[in-house]
Amino acid sequence: MASRKKKKMWAFSPWMSTSLLRLLFRMRWKNLTELASEYPVVDGKLSQTCYLKALDLCYGRLCEKFEKAEGKQFSLAEVDSVVCHSPYNKLVQKSFARLVYNDFLRNASYLKGSGSASLEPYRCMPLEDSYTNRDLEKVSQQVAKPFYVEKVEPATLIPKQVGNKYCASLYGGLASLLHQKASDLHGKRALMFSYGSGLASTLFSVQFHEGEGNFTLSNIHSVLDAENEDCFESFCTAGFFL
Ligand SMILES: *[C@@H]1O[C@H](CO)[C@@H](O)[C@H](O)[C@H]1NC(C)=O
Ligand SMILES: *[C@@H]1O[C@H](CO)[C@@H](O)[C@H](O)[C@H]1NC(C)=O
Ligand SMILES: *[C@@H]1O[C@H](CO)[C@@H](O)[C@H](O)[C@H]1NC(C)=O
Repeated sequence: MASRKKKKMWAFSPWMSTSLLRLLFRMRWKNLTELASEYPVVDGKLSQTCYLKALDLCYGRLCEKFEKAEGKQFSLAEVDSVVCHSPYNKLVQKSFARLVYNDFLRNASYLKGSGSASLEPYRCMPLEDSYTNRDLEKVSQQVAKPFYVEKVEPATLIPKQVGNKYCASLYGGLASLLHQKASDLHGKRALMFSYGSGLASTLFSVQFHEGEGNFTLSNIHSVLDAENEDCFESFCTAGFFL
């Protein structure tokens, strides 16, 4: 009996029912407005942490693969260029600085005498904190700067001019590098980092060779002969999927 009485109160108290309706309406309205957005709602801080974690994981795996194959430590000194996913250029700077911080933690020899001592206070920082620490970000960007100018900047031209191209931004970066350094790329190596906020990412390296045939769209089929394994370098690709 008591419970039936209670139910009646819920059902028939005008105050209860209108406030409940109002609350439900508000919740549903909020949900609908969230869904009405053409784009996913982004939590900036979380999104950046996910991004940097993916970059760390890919880099760690690529280093491991290289070290197994070559018997020596991998660091950014092994590559001439770094091309990054580029929704906006600040993220490219942050990504490269993060790679330099990784190299610092692994005691890469090219960093000796480069001002990397300023990163010492961050050597033992808990990993989780390191993704959001502004001071670390600033200091690693300072340490990374001369390397950034040499290895990254040439690949930033088109992404900066055109803006966010999502997945294609990496290849806009590659096109920029080809444009800026065409005559100087033979035998050079670039590290390529691709990221989709889904979340999937991959880090791989490419090596450039002087053209042995003239590439045009009309001969793309024979130039990119997928059955000819020599066209592809299977070495040194590290992916990370969640
Ligand atoms: C609104 O979405 C949340 C999850 O985001 C869910 O828990 C809640 O039940 C939804 N509200 C309504 C009224 O659909
Ligand atoms: C790097 O060097 C520091 C000491 O300067 C040492 O504590 C640390 O274990 C080294 N890390 C690696 C990965 O070799
Ligand atoms: C590439 O094109 C140039 C000029 O059209 C031509 O002289 C050369 O033979 C071509 N090379 C190859 C490998 O087809």
